[in-house]
Amino acid sequence: MSVLERNASEWEANARRNALWAILTDRDRTEAAWDAEAFFATGRVEVDGVLRALAAAGAGPNFQGCFLDFGCGVGRNTRALAQRFAAGIGIDVSETMIALARQYSEDDTRRAAYSVNRREGLPDMPDGCIDFVYCHIVLQHLPPALQPVFIREFLRILKPGGIAAFQVPTEDLASRVQCLVRWGKSRLRATLPSWLTARIRKLLGRGSEAAPITMDMNLLPERRVAAIIRQHGCSLLAAPYTNSTDTSHRGALRFMTRHEALTAVDSGVTDSRLLSQFFFVRKPAP
Ligand SMILES: C[S@@+](CC[C@H](N)C(=O)[O-])C[C@H]1O[C@@H](n2cnc3c(N)ncnc32)[C@H](O)[C@@H]1O
Repeated sequence: MSVLERNASEWEANARRNALWAILTDRDRTEAAWDAEAFFATGRVEVDGVLRALAAAGAGPNFQGCFLDFGCGVGRNTRALAQRFAAGIGIDVSETMIALARQYSEDDTRRAAYSVNRREGLPDMPDGCIDFVYCHIVLQHLPPALQPVFIREFLRILKPGGIAAFQVPTEDLASRVQCLVRWGKSRLRATLPSWLTARIRKLLGRGSEAAPITMDMNLLPERRVAAIIRQHGCSLLAAPYTNSTDTSHRGALRFMTRHEALTAVDSGVTDSRLLSQFFFVRKPAP
């Protein structure tokens, strides 16, 4: 099984088990049902906040144009973006996520298109076809080899003058031993068949009969993201820190300075030792 197939089957299983919960987890509660209205309200607040942060960084997207929400899930942010832009598309690796996104947006007066993509890249999308690329809490779950592939694709499909806003963890503040253990666990999950990892979890008393919601967590250092942006001739407008890797952010995205992000880790306000950044990028106009 290729890394992409494994990534796709993990998210398809998560979507079938409990899609809303897999998208927004909460460390303080056991797996529970989300109220759909409250869930989608987080998307409206998030999109408002990101657009405000973009404006503060001097980047206003072209609302008359077309957006892409990559890794859209059930359309939490896609539905909110569709109210702002003339057109848009949500893409996800999971068929069930996309089917749910279509259902949830059925009655919306302004609706994005939704599409499944299970390929290493976005080969159906021509160069320069999108005005605004959005991607939140997705790249962190991609296999490390695919993270740069998709960031390059975001910049390729951007129109000249277009804006990309994507988030990825960039640094692990855990000790070397903790990093090694996390790396080992993620490699093990990537190598063993899912029935065996479910069996091991059960033996350890962590699993139930049904496969648990699992997700890989991977980072891409800031210097590597910056190098990709440079290689594509794009400008990095800002790269604020966020609380996106906190397992109980429950969709309440918060922008921070590096100092604030470090303080949140040191004081135990967050349960994650990964620092995460949102990259605001502009492709130069001709
Ligand atoms: C934590 S959820 C976030 C969903 C959405 N971005 C949101 O904020 O509501 C991660 C999403 O990424 C999708 N995903 C994972 N790997 C992907 C890939 N290779 N290509 C596209 N989507 C992917 C999953 O199916 C899932 O819907």
